Amino acid sequence: MNKKILKNYLNKIENYQKHNKLYYDKSSPIISDREFDELKKEIFGLEKKYSFLKSIKSPTNSVGFAPSKNFEKFKHKVRMLSLSNGFDKEDLINFEKKIINFLNEKIYLEYSVEPKIDGISASLTYLNGQLTYGVSRGDGREGELITNNLKTIKDIPLKIEKKNIPHELEIRGEVFIEKNDFEKIKDKFANPRNAASGTLRQKDPKETAKIPLKFIAYTFGFISENRFKNQSDFLEELKSWGFLTSKYNKVIKGIDELLKFHQQFEKKRFDLNYDIDGLVYKVNNLKLQKRLGFTSNAPRWAIAHKFSAD
Ligand code: IVH
Repeated sequence: MNKKILKNYLNKIENYQKHNKLYYDKSSPIISDREFDELKKEIFGLEKKYSFLKSIKSPTNSVGFAPSKNFEKFKHKVRMLSLSNGFDKEDLINFEKKIINFLNEKIYLEYSVEPKIDGISASLTYLNGQLTYGVSRGDGREGELITNNLKTIKDIPLKIEKKNIPHELEIRGEVFIEKNDFEKIKDKFANPRNAASGTLRQKDPKETAKIPLKFIAYTFGFISENRFKNQSDFLEELKSWGFLTSKYNKVIKGIDELLKFHQQFEKKRFDLNYDIDGLVYKVNNLKLQKRLGFTSNAPRWAIAHKFSAD
């Protein structure tokens, strides 16, 4: 069975290589763009379904050639949701009350507190440590396959060089541009977020590579083997896997302490070299997160505590 799948996969890769060459090297394709995109899609589909399928000749591994005109769509394995917002103490009290009611347990909650970076979220799937799919958030269910563009970002490891990592691992984080880098290109874009978004969606990855985008990792989508107890443990592990995480991440217990930290942080937000628009509080314990689950568009276990407008 596996042999048959592998043979079919390798045939498609060979076919893809042939047409890729005809198209990009010789500029004389003999199949339509649509057929070519379909072929790539079939390969991605097979790799996604059977994680043992890998080839350095696969389109997922090729850096430096342009993605098709409109990016291919890619269905997120786990939906990319947004966060509910809170603005004051009352909102935080309500947020915690709902959690305690839902769990039906009296419990002193511990939170992973993280700056809410105002950029563009992206999802990175590593198969056996190899960056295989890079996807934009899109509508939360389906994003654009922008692997080659994301591969140009230096903070994104192409391979996780660590033993015993989950064989399928989806890391999520924020792509953004630092304020001093934005200064150099501010005539072309309305704000840093816009600049990050526009740059990330360039048709040609070489254009993306010209702007120094940054990536900070903060969560996971799908993990084949999840051995983490807390969100803060996962954030620590991200560093050892080669990702940048925010140096302001912190574990805090109790609403009064959250408010204190928020007040201090709000004052120094403008000293940071990138835009943040609040703090995210996530229930630290991952088992509790799992029990709490999601409402229709946001997790019950997290809230974005916004700063007042700039
Ligand atoms: S967690 C379901 N953590 O905020 C959990 N998001 O409004 C959602 N964001 O789309 C993601 N910093 O683009 C999370 N430390 C952080 C974040 C963060 C920024 C963005 C992200 C997300 C949006 C939600």
